Amino acid sequence: SRSLNLAVIPGDGIGQEVVAEGLKVLSAVLPQDVKLETKEFDFGARRYHSTGETLTDADLDALKAHDAILLGAIGDPSVPSGVLERGFLLKLRFAFDHHVNLRPSKLLPGVATPLAGQPEIDFVVVREGTEGPYTGNGGTIRKGTEYEVATEVSVNTAFGVERVVRDAFARAQARPRKKLALIHKNNVLTFAGHLWTDVFNRVAAEYPDVTTEYMHVDAATIYLVTQPERFDVIVTDNLFGDIITDLAAAVSGGIGVAASGNINPSGDFPSMFEPVHGSAPDIAGQGKADPTATVLSVALLLRHLGHEAEATRIEDAVSADLGERAGKSARSTSEIGDALAVRVAG
Ligand code: IPM
Ligand code: MN
Repeated sequence: SRSLNLAVIPGDGIGQEVVAEGLKVLSAVLPQDVKLETKEFDFGARRYHSTGETLTDADLDALKAHDAILLGAIGDPSVPSGVLERGFLLKLRFAFDHHVNLRPSKLLPGVATPLAGQPEIDFVVVREGTEGPYTGNGGTIRKGTEYEVATEVSVNTAFGVERVVRDAFARAQARPRKKLALIHKNNVLTFAGHLWTDVFNRVAAEYPDVTTEYMHVDAATIYLVTQPERFDVIVTDNLFGDIITDLAAAVSGGIGVAASGNINPSGDFPSMFEPVHGSAPDIAGQGKADPTATVLSVALLLRHLGHEAEATRIEDAVSADLGERAGKSARSTSEIGDALAVRVAG
C-alpha cells in the first residue's frame, strides 16, 4: 500500500482553522490504500513566545523526512513585523530551495470579480522563490538618525533565473495556449532586468512553439485588471511575483480562494503548499475564514505528488461549491470544509 507522509504547520491566526479543513478534505479524497500520516509542527508566534526560537536545524531535519508540507499562515501582531515571516516562512523556502513559487489564478463560474463582465481568467504565475530582494542582503548605516541610509539588494543569479525560467517554459508548453510572459522592470532595474531578459530569450529559442512576451511590471498591473484573459503563464522575480499574485487573487475570486505551492522540482526537499492569504488575526478563532484557498493548496500538493485524479476531484468540488454560493448565507469555516469533504468523497 502507498503512503503520504505529511508535515503540517497550522501556524498563526486563521492558519489553525483553515488547515483543519484542508486535512478533512485530504482524508476524504484519498483512496483507501493510501495511508495518510500527519505530523504537526507548532511553528509561529506561540513557539516564538515560549522558547524565543524560530526555525531550528533540528526542525529542518524533522521536516525533511516528509513527502510534503501543508502550511496555514505565519505572522502575528504580537511579534515585530518580519521576525516570524523571516524566521519561519522564508527560512523554510530558502532552506528547502523552493525556487518555484507556483500561484494559479482561475476565475471559476459564479465567482464574483471586481472586474467588469466575467472575463476568462486562467493563468499561473511562476514566482521565483529563493532570490531577488528576499535574500536579506542589505544593511543600514546611521540607523535612527536623519542621515540613515538603508539598502536592500536584489540578488539574481544566472543559475537561479535560468532554472525558474525553464520551469515556466515547460509549464507553458504543457498548456493549451502555450503562452509565457516575462514580467520585470528592465527599463529601470537594468542589471537584474537584463539578466532575466537575456536568459528568457535564450531559453525561448528552445521552445519555438511557446509564444512569449515581455512586460514591465507596472504595465502588467494594468493588463491584469483590463485584459486578464491575455495571460497564460507568467514568470517573474520574487518581489514582483509577491505583488502581482495578490492583485491576481483580487481579480479572480479573492484571497479566500488563492492557493500556492512552494516547489522544489528536484524532490531533494519536501515542497510546501499554503494559501496565499496571511494569518488574518482580526478574524482568527471565529470560524469566519474561508478554507477554500487551503483546500485548493491541498489539490496542488496532491498533483505535485502524482495524485492527479484526486487533485482534480478537489478542484471540481471547489468549483461546484463556489458555483452554488451566490445568494446563500455565509457558512462557517468548518461548514465549508464539511461540504467539500462530502463532495470529494461522493
Ligand atoms: C506571501 C507572503 C510572504 C511573502 C510574506 C508573509 C513573507 O506575502 O507568501 O506572498 O512575501 O512571500
Ligand atoms: Mn504575498
